[in-house]
Amino acid sequence: MKFASFRFLVYTVVAVWTILLNVYLFIYHYDSIALNLKNSLTNKVSSQQHIFEGHDSYYDKENGVEYSHGDYNKETNHKWAFSSDNNMLHKFDPYQYEPVDTSIVNHKTFDLYQMHTGIKDLRGIRPTFASNYETIFKNHPNPDTILGNLNFKERCALYFQNLFITDHNWYLNPNEDLPLGRYNFPYAIELDEFEFNNWRTHHYEELKQEYIDQEFEGDDQSSITDAQYEKFMMRKFEEFWNTTLQVEQRTLDSITHLRIFNKCFLSSSDPKQLEETNHFIKDQKELIKTIQGKDYLPSFEFTENEKMAKLDSYRICSSLEKRIYPWLSLQHPVFEKWTGEIELAPPQYNNLHNKKKYKSSTPATPLQMTDCFFNDMRKSMNGRGIVLTLGDVHLENTLNLIRLLRALGNMLPIQIVYYDNISGSSKAKIVKTARETMRDFPLSIEKIRHLLPEGYDLGLPVQNIHFVNLFNVVNEQYKSKFDGYGNKLLATVFNSFEEFILLDSDVVLFKNPQWFFDNSKYKAGGALFYKDRATTDKRPETDLFLLKSLLPNIIDNAMFGFPMVTEKTLKNDAFEGMYHFMEAGVVVLDKYRHLNSILMLPQLYFMEPLSKRSHGDKEFFWFAFAFNGNEDYIFNEYRAVAVGEVKPDRRKDNGELYLAQELCNSHPAHIDDNDNSLLWLNSGFHFCGKYDLVDYENDLNYQGNYYLQTFASQEEMKNYYYSPINIRHAIIPPFSGANYLKGPNTQGEPEIAWQMLHVLCHDYMWCTYSSIGYGDTFQNGTVIEFDEDQHSYFKYLGDIWVGLE
Ligand SMILES: *[C@@H]1O[C@H](CO)[C@@H](O)[C@H](O)[C@H]1NC(C)=O
Ligand SMILES: *[C@@H]1O[C@H](CO)[C@@H](O)[C@H](O)[C@H]1NC(C)=O
Ligand SMILES: *[C@@H]1O[C@H](CO)[C@@H](O)[C@H](O)[C@H]1NC(C)=O
Repeated sequence: MKFASFRFLVYTVVAVWTILLNVYLFIYHYDSIALNLKNSLTNKVSSQQHIFEGHDSYYDKENGVEYSHGDYNKETNHKWAFSSDNNMLHKFDPYQYEPVDTSIVNHKTFDLYQMHTGIKDLRGIRPTFASNYETIFKNHPNPDTILGNLNFKERCALYFQNLFITDHNWYLNPNEDLPLGRYNFPYAIELDEFEFNNWRTHHYEELKQEYIDQEFEGDDQSSITDAQYEKFMMRKFEEFWNTTLQVEQRTLDSITHLRIFNKCFLSSSDPKQLEETNHFIKDQKELIKTIQGKDYLPSFEFTENEKMAKLDSYRICSSLEKRIYPWLSLQHPVFEKWTGEIELAPPQYNNLHNKKKYKSSTPATPLQMTDCFFNDMRKSMNGRGIVLTLGDVHLENTLNLIRLLRALGNMLPIQIVYYDNISGSSKAKIVKTARETMRDFPLSIEKIRHLLPEGYDLGLPVQNIHFVNLFNVVNEQYKSKFDGYGNKLLATVFNSFEEFILLDSDVVLFKNPQWFFDNSKYKAGGALFYKDRATTDKRPETDLFLLKSLLPNIIDNAMFGFPMVTEKTLKNDAFEGMYHFMEAGVVVLDKYRHLNSILMLPQLYFMEPLSKRSHGDKEFFWFAFAFNGNEDYIFNEYRAVAVGEVKPDRRKDNGELYLAQELCNSHPAHIDDNDNSLLWLNSGFHFCGKYDLVDYENDLNYQGNYYLQTFASQEEMKNYYYSPINIRHAIIPPFSGANYLKGPNTQGEPEIAWQMLHVLCHDYMWCTYSSIGYGDTFQNGTVIEFDEDQHSYFKYLGDIWVGLE
């Protein structure tokens, strides 16, 4: 009797709850229908009509946002129309091919999970996720069994168990050909080929030949019609897209394995991150139980196959690490002190002002290889410093930079990381520059003596230098993977500092490096980045699809607690469609805090779908953070600016003054968004960084009005190109976002703020404008005039860098 009434009570509670839930769903669903209706009434002309798939859309009243799993703008964003003759318009959806079955995300668990937690997928693309999840949810069709029962470790095991079941020999192969669009190699792929018209233009002739060979062997070719050929090209383009989507899925698979491995196994060496994750899982289990009612939560059962994959039976972290990072030799770099002493363990600096409170007390050395390599690395990293990369080719720049660092009073240790061999004589030159007594100053010091600390000219501080040889950290068969930019990415991973400033060798600093660690943005996020010039280059919509698809999705979030991307990332200039976003000449990172994101860097470099979509490595830094669901990085607000001398009294042909001020040279520079001070610039200090490659006869003929003076001889021009730029002004060009990059006008005012001249300074010369447009299209930027002290200080630093007496 007692038992029966208890059961009755339980049934009643469940019934009432179900009714309430249904009412709730109905109201929200109704709201979204009503809203759609309203939109379609008011926005008849809008092309931005959302298409909802099925019934799974919700309207978030608080934020006024509609969202849904199917809420992506299929019609407007993802379909291109192309036609050969105007009668036949062929609609092409580049995403018609679905590499994985994504229906699991429509499971009510994920709906309820999102509704109750307020977690949302804001990416606005169709569902995408790693194919391994498809396998897992085939085995466990009710996600509640996983989310309600398994702790974090068990979920990690489940993920990798299923990988092993699918393929005993799985590993992330850096040499895997991700042959983007190379279905018919050798057609190289250009950056803009993801859109049909560009693709068509690039391959018109090759494909025509292929078509003729294929279809008209020996026949009369004069009968080929354009329409036939266009149809052939469309088919080829569709094939190209199907291949591309498969490759992009493999990219997503790899990135998912990587981020899950890092979170499962490497975060555990950071007590703080571990605690956060355990908290997340605990709350989630409670939630699932509340939603389902404890009595109704089905238990989790391993499948027979999963039971066979016993991942706890051996040293799982290091075994998986070898499959995730097969290029890793598991050796630490060789550290060579400027004195020539060689150490196999990271040098001890202990120069952090506030030692991390949460850091484990494990002694940094001797290295114990009891665990994963990267956990070991996390424990051994220490101190703050500067990281430079080096090959013999940039030696001159590196020497100049070291001299400059001394003049700036740098006290931070420096690690010079190299991958290709550097010669003994190069090392000797570096050591000499870093250690020799520096008491001979350029004459320009006279004007700034009053700005310098007492005793400044008794001798500039010597620099504490280590050479870090990375050659042995990479396995023999993958060594060639890290040429070029790869070197810098490896340096980011393998320098031994806990916090560091990574500098390109052609960077010029205007602040004592300590300034960057003291910067409030760096302190807040532990990752400080700078933005590139706001040029008009665009990304196609399909790039954005790929990038968005690689951000954590709702399954990554529910299973492993990866934060979903927010508007911070989704509204950045890159996702607004600008091709250039980051400039990576100076990057400031807390490696202890962001190790998982940093470890993704070298991997991205292997992946052609990504490397084809970034100029060099520069966007990878924030990509790596975003793909980990880590939005703690902070960008300096301003885009890159131009520094030098503004041309005075610039007049149009009719004698009128231009509204826009102009400044031409080849150096992007960076100004602090807080106090407008000059921080750093790029491409060295010479007026023209490529002065030694310039064809002076050519430049002399084309000098036009771009310079402040007219050069009478090649010699005169060469001197000017070699001398340090004279920094009197900075132009912060107008920038109001990706959609306002142009100011069309008929008054002869500039239409865009950054104009590349394809002639001067070995094809590397930009003119920058303080305003664009005229009348309605006018946008005004800012011109900063540095005061006499600042100007003299920059001049002194320029002379130091160039090495003038
Ligand atoms: C591309 O994939 C879609 C969907 O699977 C398929 O219908 C189509 O035939 C494929 N196209 C080509 C050219 O292979
Ligand atoms: C690196 O350079 C040094 C000095 O130039 C040379 O003795 C050594 O053999 C080189 N090592 C490799 C691996 O090339
Ligand atoms: C643009 O801004 C500058 C101040 O930075 C101002 O002096 C100038 O008059 C402005 N130009 C126009 C046309 O408003």
